[in-house]
Amino acid sequence: IEVGDFDLVIFGATGDLARRKILPGLFRRHAAGQFPAASRIIGAARSDMDTEGYRREARDAIAEFGPRDADEAQIASFLDCLAYVAIDVTGERGWSELGALMRPDVVQAFYFSVAPALFGDIAERLARHAIAGPDARIVVEKPFGRDLASARALNATLARHFEERQIYRIDHYLGKETVQNLMAVRFANMLFEPLWNVHYIDHVQITVAETVGVAGRGAYYDQSGAMRDMVQNHLMQLVCLIAMEPPWHFDPDAVRDEKLKVIRALEPVPPGDIVRGQYAAEDGDPGYRDDVENPDSRTESFVALKLRIANWRWQGVPFYLRTGKRLRDRTSEIAVVFREPPHLIFDDHAEQQANQLVIRLQPNEGMNLRVNIKEPGPGGMRLVQVPLDMSFAEALGKEGRDMPDAYERLITDVIRGNQTLFMRGDEVEAAWAWADPIIAAWENASAAPESYDPGTSGPDQALGLMHRDGRRWREIKA
Ligand code: BG6
Repeated sequence: IEVGDFDLVIFGATGDLARRKILPGLFRRHAAGQFPAASRIIGAARSDMDTEGYRREARDAIAEFGPRDADEAQIASFLDCLAYVAIDVTGERGWSELGALMRPDVVQAFYFSVAPALFGDIAERLARHAIAGPDARIVVEKPFGRDLASARALNATLARHFEERQIYRIDHYLGKETVQNLMAVRFANMLFEPLWNVHYIDHVQITVAETVGVAGRGAYYDQSGAMRDMVQNHLMQLVCLIAMEPPWHFDPDAVRDEKLKVIRALEPVPPGDIVRGQYAAEDGDPGYRDDVENPDSRTESFVALKLRIANWRWQGVPFYLRTGKRLRDRTSEIAVVFREPPHLIFDDHAEQQANQLVIRLQPNEGMNLRVNIKEPGPGGMRLVQVPLDMSFAEALGKEGRDMPDAYERLITDVIRGNQTLFMRGDEVEAAWAWADPIIAAWENASAAPESYDPGTSGPDQALGLMHRDGRRWREIKA
């Protein structure tokens, strides 16, 4: 799809996200020739710097986080598209310069890569200085609120100056290729959808495991925790894509309507169905409380929970979710575990296991369908489970690093004006309405999260969550 000329303003242009994701992502699009020559990226931040200075910063960001084979001519022509305005987002400096730079006849997008507390200031000034045209788009990052009340307040602030069709709330998991693939797998094949319900599925397990800790971002993280940082948004989006009904069309509101219905159908999670963990110090490596410099912290760096969706399709099918920092491997996957066949005809069925469809989000993006077959040999009907394993890299000839980054896709969608992969205001609010009572219960209770050793799969209690239902987690293994 053609991308038209645009002016993209990045507020927070010298911040971490701009350096790691936004600028390298834009560079990749540019290098792929998908960036009209008359387009511009305008960095806006507090630092006193000129355009040349910002180009130097962008060059460093590309060297560090961009593609390894970036060629000099491509970098130079990308940097030509950059400009910089020193701006005070809570004051008056810089706004008229920014206004003078913006062109009225191209797509205008404003990326709010700043703390949410500043969203209102920026939105108000964009309106007051008549910088944003009636079709301008704004892009906002998480955290989108820290509970239902603050999310509502943020939505109301943005709504004072922008319509919902102009607001792009990023959840970068929706930009991941394999996450989008969930919809392709479900809705472009006849094979899975007839089985996708309580009659054939025993349970679903979703794991998003990370090896990194929270050092360096303790101030944010300790106020947040895994529930707010990962579950309310990223894992919730995965649940929605697995559980939603087929939308009538791949269209922003059709897709988001279906996701919203899933969130609304979530049952409250009783305290016994949720385990919180916090990584301990080990062998001289700092533990969570050291990383966040808060010796009494009761914030969780790990959550495992059992989720129930009260609707016709999923009643009785538990969704087990877990995510955490400093775990054994960096691996994210969704496993759809099918029921046992209703009747076993083979005597030697000890090796017969339930079918599983495993969708690997990262690393080694791919799909693995585990099926039972006969083990070759004259010894009788001996069963063995084998994987039908597909790596997207092998099947499609794309190496991991050639796979487009989530941000590339999402920013391109902003320019194209396609909101399908962005969260709607009501969706975010519904997710907080579900998460709020869980978080409130923790805040009112005196119990600290369970401690777990780094490099493991989290606290033992998380294993217990499945064991008591006669099920078990898949191993966390990249
Ligand atoms: C971010 C969280 O939204 O997602 C981080 O704030 C987390 O804590 C990150 O590490 C994980 O993203 P990814 O793409 O590395 O799985």
